[in-house]
Amino acid sequence: MGVAVATPYEALGGEGGVRALVDRFYDLMDLEPGYAGIRALHPATLDGSRDKLHGFLCGWLGGPDLYVQRHGHPRLRARHLPYRIGIAERDQWLSCMGQAMHERELDAALARRLAESFFGTADWMRNV
Ligand code: HEM
Repeated sequence: MGVAVATPYEALGGEGGVRALVDRFYDLMDLEPGYAGIRALHPATLDGSRDKLHGFLCGWLGGPDLYVQRHGHPRLRARHLPYRIGIAERDQWLSCMGQAMHERELDAALARRLAESFFGTADWMRNV
């Protein structure tokens, strides 16, 4: 008698829910002065960034591995090496994602769990 445990991907509402979270994340990065530091690292248009983060997060959250299907292995740390990522950049990224999760009204327990996982990945991306 197994109990079905939803993946975070399912809890977020699948591909569309992940897309809405990613869109809010990059909208906030564009809008909020507090995230200007990491916004400046990104290209002028965020369309490609939105698609890539969306594809990556779908897999990372337990759904289809769209990023790998489209681009191959993420090599996430190597791909971030061109950008100077220290504590300040890590914390801006995490605050931006935290705000996006809050505004998307994610279940509080899920948001806490994801925030912990995001912290691990964001901290691993630090290169200074
Ligand atoms: C720690 C702070 C972080 C900063 C400052 C940062 C910044 C960036 C920048 C500037 C890009 C290039 C955008 C583009 O080419 O359109 C990028 C790409 C990307 N980031 Fe981050 N990032 C951070 C953390 C994270 C985390 C925690 C994740 C995943 C949970 C993530 C996932 C990605 C992905 C999937 C890409 C696309 C990689 C590619 O195919 O080129 N990033 N990031």
